[in-house]
Amino acid sequence: MLNSFGEGTTMGQHVAAYYQVLQELATEAVSGDTLRDTLATMAKKTASAMKSSGCSVLLFDAASRRLLHAVSHGLSDWYLRKGFLDADKSLGDTLEGKVVTVLDAATDPRVQYREMAQRQGIASMVSVPLRQRGSIIGALRVYTREHRHFSTDDIAFLTAVAGLAAVAVENAQLRELEAARDAMFSQPDVPRLAQDLIRPISFSHPSEEEFARLLDFYKIQWMYEPRSFPLEWDGDKVKEMFTPDFYLPELDLYVELTTMKQELIREKTRKLRRLKELYPEVNIKLLTKRDYHRLLAKYGYGPLGRAEVNVERILLSAPQIQRRVRQLGKAISGDYAGRSPLLIGILKGVVCFMPDLMRNISLPVSVDFMAISYYGDQETESVRIIKDLDRSIAGLDVIMVEDIVDTGMTLNYVLHYLAARNPASLEVCTLLDKRVRRLVDVPLKYIGFEVPDEFVVGYGLDYNGEFRNLPFIGIVTPSPTEAK
Ligand code: IMP
Repeated sequence: MLNSFGEGTTMGQHVAAYYQVLQELATEAVSGDTLRDTLATMAKKTASAMKSSGCSVLLFDAASRRLLHAVSHGLSDWYLRKGFLDADKSLGDTLEGKVVTVLDAATDPRVQYREMAQRQGIASMVSVPLRQRGSIIGALRVYTREHRHFSTDDIAFLTAVAGLAAVAVENAQLRELEAARDAMFSQPDVPRLAQDLIRPISFSHPSEEEFARLLDFYKIQWMYEPRSFPLEWDGDKVKEMFTPDFYLPELDLYVELTTMKQELIREKTRKLRRLKELYPEVNIKLLTKRDYHRLLAKYGYGPLGRAEVNVERILLSAPQIQRRVRQLGKAISGDYAGRSPLLIGILKGVVCFMPDLMRNISLPVSVDFMAISYYGDQETESVRIIKDLDRSIAGLDVIMVEDIVDTGMTLNYVLHYLAARNPASLEVCTLLDKRVRRLVDVPLKYIGFEVPDEFVVGYGLDYNGEFRNLPFIGIVTPSPTEAK
C-alpha cells in the first residue's frame, strides 16, 4: 500500500507541486475558455498532480437526483457508460457536503458500481463536494489503481480544486445569463450546463444529429448513448451489449433510431425484446425515420398547413409547462387549504391550462366558464360577455384562470364584473404574463411564466383559431401584429 506521496517524494516537494498546480488551475478557472475545456484541464492536471489513474467532475441534477459525468480523465468509455450514478447511492455523503474516502472500492457499499470499478482497476477513490453559495452542485473525484490512504494534504488540495471548479461553473452560468438576458425564458441552470457538457461532439449517424436537433427545438433534454446494457454473458464476460442512441431524462425514455432496412429492424427488435426481459423497468422505443418525421409534422416543426404563419421557436417545452403547472397547483392547494375554490376560465384560451391546473389542485374545486367577444375598432375596442356564469358566485372563493395577460384590458373588465357579484375572495392565476405590454394594472396572484413581447401560440393559445393543440408554447413568424 502506498502513502499519498509515492516513492522518493518528500512531503515538502509534494505540497510545492500541489501549490504549483493550484496556481495554474486558478488561472484556468477564470480563463474564459469553454466550461468543458476548463474542467477537462482541471481533471487532467489534478489526476497527474495526485499521481492517480483518473479524475472526474460530476454535476448534480437535482430533478433526477443523479450525478452526471461532466468531464473525466483516465476513465474508459465503458466505465463512464456503466449506468446512471444515483446521487444518494454513489458516495452519497458528498452531497451532504462531506469528503468521502474509499480505501477498497471493490467492497465498500458506498460505491454504487463496485464490480465495474474493480474492472476499471480502481482500488481507492476520494470524492469532494463542489459547493456554490451554500449548495452542493456536484463532486470532484479522484481514482487510484493502488490502495491508498488519502492524506490531509491530498484532501486540502482537492478541496481547493473543487472550489475552483465551482467558480468555473459559476462563471459559465454567468456567461449564459448574459447571453440570455434578451431571451427572458432561458434558464441557465446546472442540469442544462451539464447537458451541454455531456453532448457528443460527433454522432455516429446523420439521423441521430437530426433527431438531436429536433429535441433541441422542442427544448427536450437528451443524453447521447449514456448507458450500455449487457444482454448476454459468457460466464463472467459480457458477450453482447446494447447501447440505445438517446435517453430523454424528462420522459425517462430511451430511444433507439433505426433505418427502414428490414434486417436491421429485425435485429434491433430482437435486442430490444431481450433488453425488456432483462430490464423490465427500462422504458425504450424504437423509432424509424418515418416515425419521427411524423412526430415532427404533428408538432408543427416545418410548414403547418393552412396558417400563413409558422412556429419559429419553442418558448416553453411541454415538460417545462407541466412542471410549472404542478407548482401552481401545489401553491393554490396550500393557500386555499380547508376551502373549496371556484375556478373560472375565459374560453377558449384556457382549454389546456384549466384541466391541467385543476388536476394538480388537491382540494375540492368547482369550475365555471365565461366567453367574451371584442367589438369596435382598435381605438374603441370593448369587451362583451357572450356566455355568463352558470351560478351565483356570492360568498365563494373565486380564482380567475387565464391563459395570458397582455394589455390587461380583458382581465380588468372581467374582474370588475366578477367583483360586483360579491365573491368572498377574488384572485387571478395566469399561465403567461406578457408584462411589457401592460396598459391596465391588474393584480396577478399566481403567474406561470413571464413572456417577452412576441405573439405566442400553443397549449390553448391560438392564431386565427389554429395551433391550440400544440403541447408546447411557441413563437410564430411573421408576427401577426407585424403582418397586420
Ligand atoms: P389583453 O386584454 O390584452 O390582456 O388580452 C388578453 C387576451 O388576448 C388573451 O386572453 C388572449 O386570448 C389574447 N392574446 C394576447 N396575447 C396573445 C398571444 O401572444 N397569443 C395568443 N393570444 C394572445
